[in-house]
Amino acid sequence: MTRTLKVVAVSGSLNHPSKTTALVEEIVAALGRALPIESHLITLTDLGPSLAGALTRSQLPPQAEAELQRIETADLLVVASPVYRASFTGLFKHLFDFIDQYALVDTPVLLAASGGSERHALIIEHQFRPLFAFFQALTLPVGIYAHDSDFTDYRLTNETLRARIEKAVAKAVPVIWSNLEEKDEIVRALDGEGVSALAE
Ligand SMILES: Cc1cc2nc3c(=O)[nH]c(=O)nc-3n(C[C@H](O)[C@H](O)[C@H](O)COP(=O)(O)O)c2cc1C
Repeated sequence: MTRTLKVVAVSGSLNHPSKTTALVEEIVAALGRALPIESHLITLTDLGPSLAGALTRSQLPPQAEAELQRIETADLLVVASPVYRASFTGLFKHLFDFIDQYALVDTPVLLAASGGSERHALIIEHQFRPLFAFFQALTLPVGIYAHDSDFTDYRLTNETLRARIEKAVAKAVPVIWSNLEEKDEIVRALDGEGVSALAE
């Protein structure tokens, strides 16, 4: 398969510069070395102010609506947030509260977070994974947690963490491809090759 994957990365950080955004950029770069991708980064520092005042999706300005649609039509999502009070930021959740309940079914999602405490690494498992399980998304097996000390001047400088990113990507690639092949087969079958194409 040679198609280019639409990767949408979301950083839930409220800061610029941001360790979380730096982490997301490293992950997207690693994905780009392993897969043909085109990527789009959404940061809550940019998007957040227009989200914060909206109580319903219909109140969002067109640029924010366009970002939601990018998330909903991505082939692969990379989502990350700093840990705030043992969870993702409130605005990160507010963003995903606007996402259609069924838009992310089977979408592969790579989970990541950064925190000030090494003891909050399980945020990936007890906050992010349940949220994306709700969406029936395909959360990828290895999540990435970064600690403040993994960065120098908002650049990732810990080689162990870099190796973890490579591992997460290596584990993700076969899952992503098989997921896309399955989706393509279904589309081909629905386009007229017949349901028998699914049985091949
Ligand atoms: C309001 C607030 C709450 C935070 N709560 C936690 C927390 O519960 N656990 C933790 O490990 N770090 C916590 N932190 C630290 C941030 O998660 C950490 O510094 C993170 O790397 C910041 O990412 P950023 O540079 O993208 O903003 C908190 C920081 C703030 C400002």
